[in-house]
Amino acid sequence: MPNALLNETFKSVIQDERVRAVIQRLEEERRGARAGSPRDDGQSQDPYDYADRGFSIRPEQGDLIYLLCRGMRATRVVEFATSVGMSTLYFAAAMRDNGGGRVIGSELVPAKIATARRNLSEAGLADDVEIREGDARQTLRALGGPVDFALIDGWPRDEEPSLAREVIEIIAPQLRVGGYVMNDNAEPDFLEFIRDPGNGFISITLPLKSGTELSVKVA
Ligand SMILES: C[S@@+](CC[C@H](N)C(=O)[O-])C[C@H]1O[C@@H](n2cnc3c(N)ncnc32)[C@H](O)[C@@H]1O
Repeated sequence: MPNALLNETFKSVIQDERVRAVIQRLEEERRGARAGSPRDDGQSQDPYDYADRGFSIRPEQGDLIYLLCRGMRATRVVEFATSVGMSTLYFAAAMRDNGGGRVIGSELVPAKIATARRNLSEAGLADDVEIREGDARQTLRALGGPVDFALIDGWPRDEEPSLAREVIEIIAPQLRVGGYVMNDNAEPDFLEFIRDPGNGFISITLPLKSGTELSVKVA
């Protein structure tokens, strides 16, 4: 899509022009990216083969993250994973606009962390973001206190448990009651966990992207 047209149609609840400009650029890059994804048959599932690809959340999902974080006055949030930092931008903008907070990111591929840091700096949002390098199943074990919001936007693999399932089991005990979880990829064993009332969540599927699961911790 030509830049001018995307500029015309780009809408966001985020008002800050610097942040909007970076989000718009990343969205343009996503639309123009080469074909193929680790979810396609016969494609590599090695994250290092996709250092140039964001596989990022859509702007409507980001807007919802921003809106919910603002409404609940979130100050501590976590994401699996960061990639090139699109979701991080929405979280970090909300933390700043709430008066300050901490975003804990996670990412396996160092080149993507470098890209995410550049994007956050360009948006003026680098200060309150910590990106933990390595396997999120290790790096997110100790979040340093309760968190208000968790994004589970992981990576496919053929066998269960999915990474999303493993990571939600690590994060759920660290999420405060009233805290939200958003999941992008509808991994069946993640949905099984989050929809089981015994695990303390109420969950709905929203018609965003191909189905976005939004859950709130109630017990
Ligand atoms: C769908 S992308 C995340 C997109 C990001 N939330 C955004 O909106 O830009 C998933 C990311 O997970 C990373 N990843 C895969 N396995 C991982 C692991 N075990 N620990 C941390 N990150 C991992 C991949 O490198 C990839 O960048």
